[in-house]
Amino acid sequence: MGGAYPTPKLDKMPAMGDPTSMAVPLLDLRAQYAEIASEVDEAIHQVVQEQRFVMGDEVSALEQEIAAYTGARHAIGCASGSDALLLALWARGVGPGDAVLCPTYTFFATAGSVARLGARPVFVDIQPDTYNLCLDSARRAAAGRTDLKAILPVDLYGQAADLRATHELAAELGIAVIEDAAQAIGSRDADGRTVGSASEQVCFSFFPSKNLGAYGDGGMITTQSDELAARARLLRLHGGEPKYYHELVGMNSRLDALQAAILRVKLRHLEGWHERRLQNADHYDDLFRDAGALDSRVSLDEDSGLSLRFPARNAEPARHIFNQYIVRVPADRRDALREHLAAREIGSEIYYTIPLHLQACFKDLGGRPGDLPNAERAAKETVALPIFPELSKAQREAVAGAVIEFL
Ligand SMILES: Cc1ncc(COP(=O)(O)O)c(C=O)c1O
Repeated sequence: MGGAYPTPKLDKMPAMGDPTSMAVPLLDLRAQYAEIASEVDEAIHQVVQEQRFVMGDEVSALEQEIAAYTGARHAIGCASGSDALLLALWARGVGPGDAVLCPTYTFFATAGSVARLGARPVFVDIQPDTYNLCLDSARRAAAGRTDLKAILPVDLYGQAADLRATHELAAELGIAVIEDAAQAIGSRDADGRTVGSASEQVCFSFFPSKNLGAYGDGGMITTQSDELAARARLLRLHGGEPKYYHELVGMNSRLDALQAAILRVKLRHLEGWHERRLQNADHYDDLFRDAGALDSRVSLDEDSGLSLRFPARNAEPARHIFNQYIVRVPADRRDALREHLAAREIGSEIYYTIPLHLQACFKDLGGRPGDLPNAERAAKETVALPIFPELSKAQREAVAGAVIEFL
C-alpha cells in the first residue's frame, strides 16, 4: 500500500514457474509482467517513439476507458491516489475551517489530504466485520458540528463501503460524499453499482500494488458532475486554462503518458485478474473454514475451532476485488505467526498498525486510546496474506497450511 508495498526480494524469491519451491511472496509483480510483457513493451515503445511523455492522447484515452469501466461521466487523471483525494476535496471547496468525516483505520492519505487543505479530519470508527466506515460512529461524530463539508468513506482492502447508508447520512447532514476507492477499482457495492459511479467524486490510486497498478505513481478521480470535473481538471494544471491564463491557483498533478499507456494495457486484463483473486480468496476461505475458522462477523472472543477470522464479504450483487486478503488472529500471537510464515519464506504484512486518531501528527485533534475501539482492535489483530492473481493452488495450500499449523 502507499509507499510501503513490499518490494519482492529477488534473491529470496523462487524462480518464476519453479514448482518445487513453496516460497510465496506477498506480491509477485514479475509473474504478472511475464504474462503481458509483449503488450506492455509495445505500448512503452510507442510512447517513446512519439516522445510525448506528459498528459496527451494516452492519458485522454485512459480517462475515457476508466469512465466507461466505472460507469462515470468523467474521469480525470492525476499524479497519484493521494493527489486524487486532494484535488477532489479542493474542487469541492474544502479548506480552512471545514471538517471532513473519515475512518481512522485507513492509509494515511485519506486524512492527510484533508489536513493538507487546512481542514480538520474528524475520525470515525470502522465496522469490525468489513473494516469499512461505521455509520453509527459517523453520526455520533457529526452530532452538533456545523463545520462538516464532506464524508470520506474508504472501500478498504477492495470491498465497497456501505454507500447507500453513507449517501443517506450525507444527505441528512447536507454534505458531500468523496469516496476513497484507492484499493477498489472494479468493486461493486451492495446495490451492484460499480465503484466510481455512485458517489459525487471517487478517487483511485494506480500505485503498483493495486489491482490496476502502474509502473510508478498515478491516480484518477471519477465524477458525474460537469462542474467538479472542470474544476479538478483546472486544479491539476496550476489552474491555467488556456495555458498561461490562471483562473485558480492549482498544482502540478499530471499523469505520465507512459503510465497511461501501461495502464491501458493492464485494464484489458483487469477483469480476469479480479476473478483469479476472488478464486484465491474462495480457496483460502474454504481451507480456513475446513480447519474450524469463522468469518470476521464473529469476534475472536467467541469460541470456535480455530482462532482465525477470514474476511466477511457483502452478499451479491456486491463484489469484493481483494486488493488484500486479511485475516484476524489473536493480537498476542500475530508477531509470532508472521515469524512462523517468514521462516517458511511466506510473505505477510500488517497495514495500519496505528489508527490515524492516535498518530503523532494529529495529536492536537485530541484522539485518545479507547476512543475508536473497533479500529484499535483491528490494528492489533489483522494480517494480510498473499492474494495476487498468479498464486498457484499449491502456494495457497502452503500459505493456509502454515497459518493453520501455527494456530
Ligand atoms: C485507502 C488509500 N487511500 C489513498 C491512497 C493513496 O494512493 P497513492 O499511494 O497512489 O498516493 C492509498 C494507496 O496507497 C490507499 O490505499
